[in-house]
Amino acid sequence: MSKPPKISLKNVHKSFGKKHVLNGLSLDIMEGESLVVIGGSGTGKSVMLKCILGLITPESGEIFIDGQQVIGLPQAEREKSLRKTGMLFQYAALFDSLPVWENVAFGLIQAQGMARTKAREKAIEMLSLVGLEADMADRNPAELSMGMQKRVGLARAIATHPEIIFFDEPTTGLDPIMGDVIDTLIRDCTRHLGATTLTISHDMESAQKIADRIALIYKGEVVWNGPANEIETCGNPYVEQFIRGDLDGPIELDILKP
Ligand SMILES: Nc1ncnc2c1ncn2[C@@H]1O[C@H](COP(=O)(O)OP(=O)(O)OP(=O)(O)O)[C@@H](O)[C@H]1O
Ligand SMILES: [Mg+2]
Repeated sequence: MSKPPKISLKNVHKSFGKKHVLNGLSLDIMEGESLVVIGGSGTGKSVMLKCILGLITPESGEIFIDGQQVIGLPQAEREKSLRKTGMLFQYAALFDSLPVWENVAFGLIQAQGMARTKAREKAIEMLSLVGLEADMADRNPAELSMGMQKRVGLARAIATHPEIIFFDEPTTGLDPIMGDVIDTLIRDCTRHLGATTLTISHDMESAQKIADRIALIYKGEVVWNGPANEIETCGNPYVEQFIRGDLDGPIELDILKP
C-alpha cells in the first residue's frame, strides 16, 4: 500500500465575517516532496499555512499530518505534532534580543532540551551549512543584512532536523542574486535532510527552482496543481495569466472592481 501524504488538506473552509478566504481548499503533499504554492496577494496562502500550523481554526474540512487529523487536537498533542516541523517566516522574524547562535539553537534548547554549550556547537555547524562563518555566532541579528538574516532563519528552521519545513515568501525583499542563493540553499538543505517542504511564493522563477510540484491558489481554491516542469505548457488559463502577469483572463483583481 502506498504511504499516506505527509500533509493533506481536504475541503478546508475558512471565513472572516462575510469574507470566504478558503473555499474548499484541498491539497496533498507527499513525503520528501517540495511543493510550492503560488498565487496573487490576498488569495489565502498565508491563511492556509496558519491553518496547518494551528494558528487559525477552519470552520470545516480536515487537515492531516502523517495521517493524523490535527484540527481540534488538544494543545499538548498539537505541540507534539509541530515538533516535526521547522518554519522560515517572511522577513526571517529573528529574535533581536538574542545573538545569532541562540536564534539558530532556539528549538534545540527549548524543544529538545539540549545543553547550551552543545547547542552552540550545533548552531555554528548549521551556520556553516548556510554559508555563514563561526564569527557570526555572537552578532546581533539587527546588524545583519536581510540576506544574512534569511540565512540565519534557514539555519534555525533546519537545526532540529525537522521532517517538514514551511517557508513563507523566502526570497521576497531580496535582490535576485541573494534570492537565488537562498533558493539554492533551500533546495540543497532540504534534500540533504530528506524533508517535506511547503513554500509560499509570488515568484515563478524561484518556484520553478525549488519545487517538485506547484499549486496555484485563486480565491481560496487550488485551480491548478502539477509537476513544476509542466507549468509553462499546461495550458491552464489561470496559470497562463499568472505567468504572463496579464490583466486579461479568468483572474480578477479586486482592486479593479468599482
Ligand atoms: N485574522 C484575519 N482576520 C480577518 N481577515 C483576515 C485575517 N487573516 C487574513 N485575512 C484576510 O484573508 C485574505 C487572505 O489573506 P492571506 O494573508 O492568506 O493572503 P495571501 O494569499 O497570503 O496574500 P499575500 O500574498 O499578500 O501575503 C485577505 O483578504 C485578508 O485580509
Ligand atoms: Mg501571505
